[in-house]
Amino acid sequence: MKNLSGSELEKKNAAEKACELVSEGMVVGLGTGSTTAFAIRCLGRRIAEEGLHITGVPTSYASEALAIECGIPLVSLDRSPVLDLDIDGADQIDASLNVIKGGGAAHTREKIVACSAKKFVVVADNKKFTATLNRSVPIEVLPYARRLVERELRKLGGACKVRTCPGKDGPVISDNGNFILDCEFGEIPNPAALGEKMSLIPGLVEHGIFTTAAEVYLGFEDRVEVLRRKV
Ligand code: A5P
Repeated sequence: MKNLSGSELEKKNAAEKACELVSEGMVVGLGTGSTTAFAIRCLGRRIAEEGLHITGVPTSYASEALAIECGIPLVSLDRSPVLDLDIDGADQIDASLNVIKGGGAAHTREKIVACSAKKFVVVADNKKFTATLNRSVPIEVLPYARRLVERELRKLGGACKVRTCPGKDGPVISDNGNFILDCEFGEIPNPAALGEKMSLIPGLVEHGIFTTAAEVYLGFEDRVEVLRRKV
């Protein structure tokens, strides 16, 4: 493997540590993004080298393609509606293990898979950790409802921009055929409350606040710290 940069090594360390949770026979959610890609490759290696038998449920066309390349047998949520484990990345994580996701526009399927799993774990480099969430929240919206959703989000204190493809004029289109809004709220002291309010807006398909992570694997160049939800 080529030499990894510091942050790639942090991501790899986190992802590979979380893969230790995967055992024979499990159905595993395969998240989306550069950190989860290390986990998908690691699981592919374990299938090839250890003869591990697992099936994966991908959260995006991108993770599906990578899983196929890595030799991971896939199954649909229709056939396997309850997963043993879901491993996915994050854009930001707070001290209570609330997470913002959707930097790759995949958070709707990611949330469906995370909520279908008995255990949802997050893998990330340590720079994603912050005391209080404060980055923009990705929001998938039906194109038909965009104006209504923007207006309702303004009432909640959010300022939205439609995400556009770099170097092109057009909007990013999600795997579900929808637009992505990036919505700035400033500091988010109560992510669950904001998420509940957003979920009531008609035409808002899904927001990127996740509040159900059981564990977060935070990668450093020389170690991994595991944060566990306090019960
Ligand atoms: C995909 O929509 C996201 O939720 C990703 O899981 C998140 O953006 C983390 O991606 P990286 O691992 O590439 O930082």
